[in-house]
Amino acid sequence: MTTFDAVDIIRTKRDGGILSSEQIAWTIDAYTRGAIADEQMSALNMAILLRGMNLQEIAQWTAAMIASGERMDFSSLRGPDGKVKATSDKHSTGGVGDKITLPLAPLVAVFGVAVPQLSGRGLGHTGGTLDKLESIPGWQANLDNAQLMRQLSDVGAVICAAGAGLAPADRKLYALRDVTGTVEAIPLIASSIMSKKIAEGTGSLVLDVKVGSGAFMKNEAQARELAQTMVALGKDAGVNTVALLTNMNTPLGLTAGNAIEVEESVEVLAGGGPQDVVELTVRLAEEMLACAGVHDADPAAALRDGRAMDVWKRMIAAQGGDPDAALPVARESDTVYAPADGVLVQLDALAVGVAAWRLGAGRARKEDAVQAGAGVRMHAKPGAYVRAGEPLMTLLTDTPDRFDRAREALADAVVIAPEGSRPDARLILDRIS
Ligand code: URA
Repeated sequence: MTTFDAVDIIRTKRDGGILSSEQIAWTIDAYTRGAIADEQMSALNMAILLRGMNLQEIAQWTAAMIASGERMDFSSLRGPDGKVKATSDKHSTGGVGDKITLPLAPLVAVFGVAVPQLSGRGLGHTGGTLDKLESIPGWQANLDNAQLMRQLSDVGAVICAAGAGLAPADRKLYALRDVTGTVEAIPLIASSIMSKKIAEGTGSLVLDVKVGSGAFMKNEAQARELAQTMVALGKDAGVNTVALLTNMNTPLGLTAGNAIEVEESVEVLAGGGPQDVVELTVRLAEEMLACAGVHDADPAAALRDGRAMDVWKRMIAAQGGDPDAALPVARESDTVYAPADGVLVQLDALAVGVAAWRLGAGRARKEDAVQAGAGVRMHAKPGAYVRAGEPLMTLLTDTPDRFDRAREALADAVVIAPEGSRPDARLILDRIS
């Protein structure tokens, strides 16, 4: 590989130039090996955030991150008819109360499409799928590749931790971006997400790009640009990719936490649950199945008639969990009441996410533990008519000294307007393919 000077590369991007594929391949490789210092990579990340990258540079940056580690291959998976099984995965850019992966993976598997859902833990105010599932007694997040393949073949759906071998350059780069104010660069987010998804080896991918206060992307134009970039990267790498832009101004469902989100997911799998969680689960299932070539499926029926629940129970049990065990419950609770009569027009996702995090549902540093029972249970969603003094939210934690800080986070979360007011209730804002 040709060797370059890191300072020249930083200067080129600082001045708005375009990096060559050789420069990009060298940069990612040298940084992963430790030959580019963190301070140099920080400067380059900031130059990318300020100057941007064209699609070719982003594709090369993504390819270099994929090349830093292993690539998984599901082509040996066979269905009962002996044919290669289609695989499909979903990735959400992160939100509050976003438990959709839990009912979605088993639901898609009902229709014979394998779902290898390699997931992460939460950091900051957005929850992590693995943290939620770890509240189920006995459930194990770490599988080796042989266990992953066996479960995909026997059950059809796996939700587990992404191994350290997948895009290790991204792991190092993401940790650096997190502490240098460079997370929010569209080229860096798109390449970070897509390098892991392409290395994972899924045949098709549906992206749920969140827009709003509780998301990375605060407005629709930014979210659309991110979605278009990721769809282009996926297609370029041979992964059939579509994206939905979905609303994250309000939390999804009525729970934000870990065990309480599992409980709500099980309600959805039992044919009930909040309408927005059901709607998004069914829509994402339809998109995943269509991307994998299945066009005649009825996912809503599979939630109602128990087929998705059967796969869920087998999926949890295959990873050591007891799907029928009681879930942990927080030791202490506190109630937030409606301050006035009227229509609830805002229940801010960021505020609820920060409150759940401060109650112990999330972590400030990667090595922190989370509380399984902590979080926020909501009793009304935007559009509901509420009366002064009625319970709006229940705060849950094992450590009651956290209530004050959680209440502070919620100080401006709720807006109540006169009767007749209507909040913007759109859940799915756009589809990019
Ligand atoms: N999720 C990722 O995996 N990477 C990012 O950069 C942002 C969200």
